[in-house]
Amino acid sequence: MRTLILLAAAFIAGHAFAQTKPWHEVGRDATKTEVKAWDIDVRPDFKGLPKGAGTVEQGEKLWEAQCASCHGSFGESNEVFTPIVGGTTKADIERGRVKNLEPGSIFPQKTTMMKVATLSTLWDYINRAMPWNAPKSLTADEVYSVTAYILSLADVVPADFTLSDKNIAEVQKRMPNRNGMVFYEPLWKADGKGDTKNVACMKDCPVEATIRSSLPDFARDAHGNIQEQNRVIGPVRGADTTKPAPTAPVGAGPRPTTVAVATPAKPASAVKDTKALLAANSCTACHGMTNKIVGPGFNEIAAKHKGKADLESYLTGRIREGGSGVYGAVPMPPQPQLSVDDARSIAKWIVDGAK
Ligand code: HEC
Ligand code: HEC
Repeated sequence: MRTLILLAAAFIAGHAFAQTKPWHEVGRDATKTEVKAWDIDVRPDFKGLPKGAGTVEQGEKLWEAQCASCHGSFGESNEVFTPIVGGTTKADIERGRVKNLEPGSIFPQKTTMMKVATLSTLWDYINRAMPWNAPKSLTADEVYSVTAYILSLADVVPADFTLSDKNIAEVQKRMPNRNGMVFYEPLWKADGKGDTKNVACMKDCPVEATIRSSLPDFARDAHGNIQEQNRVIGPVRGADTTKPAPTAPVGAGPRPTTVAVATPAKPASAVKDTKALLAANSCTACHGMTNKIVGPGFNEIAAKHKGKADLESYLTGRIREGGSGVYGAVPMPPQPQLSVDDARSIAKWIVDGAK
């Protein structure tokens, strides 16, 4: 309420003195330190790359401790994500193009090392996003070492290599897909001509194409209800895949006149409905209601622990602390943002059969 009054006051003030922007006294400029904390990108020419170094051997240890559980000891695992290493050859390293990406290739997957053209991207991505459950927790030297380990697995550098800001540009010259980046001029050249030639039409326009999208029946519910796994913010929802597919192709026919706009996620403690809690905390990105995604389906959990004393307290702890080993090697990240009450209400809902 207080914020509303303040906002209203600011609004009225804005009207009274039309020259000053209504928000001119709200907020402040970001400080240099704040900007620096966000400005961490490393460019293809290695601008922005912090100084440092790390060996393949150090990287191997770090990988085993912090990366292998999700990506496999050799970056080969398919369990959480497509493999990081595999599918590249010595010939690719010489040529800078990956044969397995060419038309006609029967290689079943596109691994990270097959696709990535710029080593800066690999360094930057690990630095900002990995490990998945603790992003930005690695020091610069650790990012060098674990990147060196990945590169050694793909035979880009030897096993006794030390990767550093001094030699990284040389290593770039051995990236298997370094010449594989394609520049689509009409798409990306801002002052060029577009790649479509449309004439604006506002009335009685000819229908030239029908855009369709559908899933085969057998695949429809393969990963649980898509609707429940979608982001809770913004207007776009997936289909309710527990229901049969619509008979008319999606995209044909009149568009719905109203779009359901979800309210932005409220602080978890204010959300009473369990399913809203699960969505607001992204639990449904990894857990289906009735099937495994990355973690077990919610309805499988109570069955797994049948007969266990005080299952509710056990699950409350597991939800907040995360961990692995009950269903497999892939860990569930801790969820410290959830209050004990909310974790308990989810645990109770699971014990009651997750309905
Ligand atoms: C808890 C599981 C988990 C752990 C631990 C983890 N990762 Fe990942 N990693 C993922 C997931 C999931 C993705 C895909 C993320 C996405 O696309 O949003 C990913 C993506 C990546 C990618 C990009 C792959 C690509 O082709 O886009 C790299 C590189 C990577 N991880 C490296 C690492 C490194 C290095 C570590 C250890 C420091 C690590 N990961 C730890 C789950 C994990
Ligand atoms: C990054 C993926 C991921 C996210 C996000 C995630 N989980 Fe999990 N969860 C897992 C995995 C993987 C397991 C299996 C761990 C194991 O084998 O012990 C698991 C296990 C569980 C278990 C069972 C624990 C047991 O010992 O039987 C519960 C309950 C659970 N998760 C609830 C939640 C809730 C509630 C949320 C959201 C607040 C959530 N999870 C978010 C991946 C995830």
